[in-house]
Amino acid sequence: MISVKNVSYTYMTGTPFEKTALKNISFDVAEGEVLAVAGHTGSGKSTLIQIVAGLIDLTQGSVTIDNLPVADKKIRRLVGIVFQYPEHQLFEETVESDIAFAPKNFGLSDAEISAQVEEAMRQVGLPAELKSVSPFELSGGQKRRVAIAGILALKPKYLILDEPTAGLDPLAKENLLKEIFGAVKKSGATIILVSHNMEDIARFANRVVVLAQGQILFVGTPRELFSREEILSRAGLEPPPITQLLSKLNLNQNALTLDEAEKIILKNFPRK
Ligand SMILES: Nc1ncnc2c1ncn2[C@@H]1O[C@H](COP(=O)(O)OP(=O)(O)O)[C@@H](O)[C@H]1O
Ligand SMILES: [Mg+2]
Repeated sequence: MISVKNVSYTYMTGTPFEKTALKNISFDVAEGEVLAVAGHTGSGKSTLIQIVAGLIDLTQGSVTIDNLPVADKKIRRLVGIVFQYPEHQLFEETVESDIAFAPKNFGLSDAEISAQVEEAMRQVGLPAELKSVSPFELSGGQKRRVAIAGILALKPKYLILDEPTAGLDPLAKENLLKEIFGAVKKSGATIILVSHNMEDIARFANRVVVLAQGQILFVGTPRELFSREEILSRAGLEPPPITQLLSKLNLNQNALTLDEAEKIILKNFPRK
């Protein structure tokens, strides 16, 4: 379990550029859940997850992971974080060596590394033949997959993804999340998904933390969130298009997914 208690964070304290990014944040992440962190640009999402991953030192409040303080070196192997636009950090000559980079640093044997690279490639839907290709010859969506596979190869118990589909075309987006979430969930990992895509949150998250100006506005299920108009408007978020459509047609206030919407529409307008 991850437990975040009363965390506040200010950048460049004591300078004219001082900026409070987080104010008194508390929430838990339960084993095996997908917790989304949503909010407008600048609301503090990336700062929060970097603190949770131990990449920004705490100045106020506490974060524990499996009861260890986040500063404890033992948590490094437990938490994998995929930054926004992670493909910018690809640099090895082949896909295989890029994915193997972090497992190598953690001192795994060659056999273990090779097995984990293969599994990670399967998890993100990359064909094994791409192993020996240069990552720079791949499409944007494939590069993103390589970067994510590099983190999955560490088999993190907690996986943090910062806007994993930002900037991808719709098809790459759709499959990427389906694949990662299918595979990673099967392995029992716990996921924190930073996203301002409400459709992704509706489909994949068990719970959502909504941030606005560094503060928590809401913690609850996606369904609850999409029925709370005042929260959404304060956070600058909108329900998924399908939820808005059914609500406008007065068919349902909180249908979340296309599958659900289809059932509701067929019930109201049966096929002749
Ligand atoms: N390295 C930094 N130095 C100073 N201010 C920063 C830094 N990183 C982020 N901020 C500021 O902190 C606030 C929260 O940023 P961030 O956590 O990146 O939000 P989000 O990921 O939700 O867009 C913003 O006002 C941003 O400008
Ligand atoms: Mg961010």
